[in-house]
Amino acid sequence: MIDYKKLAGKEIESLKPYIPGKPVKELERELGVEKALKMASNENPLGPSPKAMEALKDFMPEMGRYPYGDVYYLRKKLAKRLNVDGDRIIFGTGSNEIIELAMRTFVSTDEHVMSPAPSFSVYGIIAQAMRASCKWIPTKEDFSYDFEKLAEEIDDKTRIIFLANPNNPTGLHFTDEELVNFMEKVPADCIVVMDEAYYEYVDANDYPDTIKMLDKYPNMMVMRTFSKAYGLAALRVGFAVGHPDAIDMLNRVRQPFNTNMGGQIAAEAALDDSDFLRRVIHENRQGKAYIYRELERLGIEYVPTQANFMLVKVGDGEKVFNELLKEGVIVRYLGPGLGEYIRVSIGTADENGTFIEKLEKILKR
Ligand SMILES: Cc1ncc(COP(=O)(O)O)c(C=O)c1O
Repeated sequence: MIDYKKLAGKEIESLKPYIPGKPVKELERELGVEKALKMASNENPLGPSPKAMEALKDFMPEMGRYPYGDVYYLRKKLAKRLNVDGDRIIFGTGSNEIIELAMRTFVSTDEHVMSPAPSFSVYGIIAQAMRASCKWIPTKEDFSYDFEKLAEEIDDKTRIIFLANPNNPTGLHFTDEELVNFMEKVPADCIVVMDEAYYEYVDANDYPDTIKMLDKYPNMMVMRTFSKAYGLAALRVGFAVGHPDAIDMLNRVRQPFNTNMGGQIAAEAALDDSDFLRRVIHENRQGKAYIYRELERLGIEYVPTQANFMLVKVGDGEKVFNELLKEGVIVRYLGPGLGEYIRVSIGTADENGTFIEKLEKILKR
C-alpha cells in the first residue's frame, strides 16, 4: 500500500489546515434554522458594489477566454489610484496567494518567516507546507506588537516578517512611528510584508502611509485585498506593491493566469465606485459604535478595533461560540490561546442587533 503520509513527510502530516468560518447554508442545514447570520469571516455585510455586479454581467459571455495574464486594465487603474508605477504591483488569487508567492520566491527550506502572535494563521501554514517555518513572537499582554522582541529575534535565516496592520484577530493597529523605528532595525536583506487587508476601515490618524515609505525601504512590501471593504471575497483578488525588482521575482514564480478575469473586471468597477466604499466604511463605523455601546451596557469587555471585526471577552469563548451557533449566529472561536474571547465581524445594523440580542440571552442564562 502506498504510504501517502510518509511521502508527504512529517511537516505536512502535522499541518493543521486553516479552518474557515462555517458557511451559512451549512449551519442552516445542520440546525434546521431558516436564517443564519455569518459574522465570522470579516466579509463585507453589504456585499459587492452594484457597479461590480453590473460589470460582471457584461463579462459573462467572455468566460470561455483566459484572463489577462498581465492584469492590464486593473493594474493601470490601481497604479494611478496609488500613484505608483504599474511594475510595482503584483496581483494574486486573494492576498493569500501573495503570501504564498512571497514565501515560494524568497524563502528556502532552512530559513524562516516571522510574525507576531496571535496573527493571521496562514503565514504559518504556508511556511510549514514549504518545509520552512514561522517564528511566532508573542504580543504584549494588551495584544500590541512587541517590536523590541521582534527585532531581537531576527537572524540571518529570517527572510520575511509579516506584520498585519490592523492585526487579525485583535483589530489593533500600530503607528507610523513604531513602524519607522522597527524598519531601522531590520537588516536590508530581510523583507517586511505589511499585511493591510483591512486598510480601508482604519480611522486612526497615526496609521502609517506605507506606500509612501516604499522608496525609503526597498525591503518593504505592502499587501492589500479586494476581499474586505470592496466586498469581492469570492472572486479572490489581492495585490502587493513593492520594489520593482521584488515584483519581478514574484512574477517569475506566479502562475500565468493567477488572477481570474471576473475578479479583474469586478475589482476595476469596484475601484470606480467610491460612493459605495464610503457607505461601507460609514456603516462599519456605525456598527462598531453600536456594538461598543451595547457591550458597555452589558458590562462586557472588548478590544477596540480599527477593522471590520472585534474581539469580545465573553469568559468561555468556546461555549459562547457554540451557544451562538445554536441561535443561528456564526462568530469565530480562536482556540485556547484566546479562550476567553470570540471574534465577531461587524455586520449590518440588523445583524449587529441580532448578535447583541442573542449574546445577551446566552449570557443571562
Ligand atoms: C490579515 C489578513 N491577511 C490576509 C487575508 C487574506 O485575504 P484574501 O486572501 O481574501 O485577500 C485575510 C483574510 O481574512 C486576513 O485577515
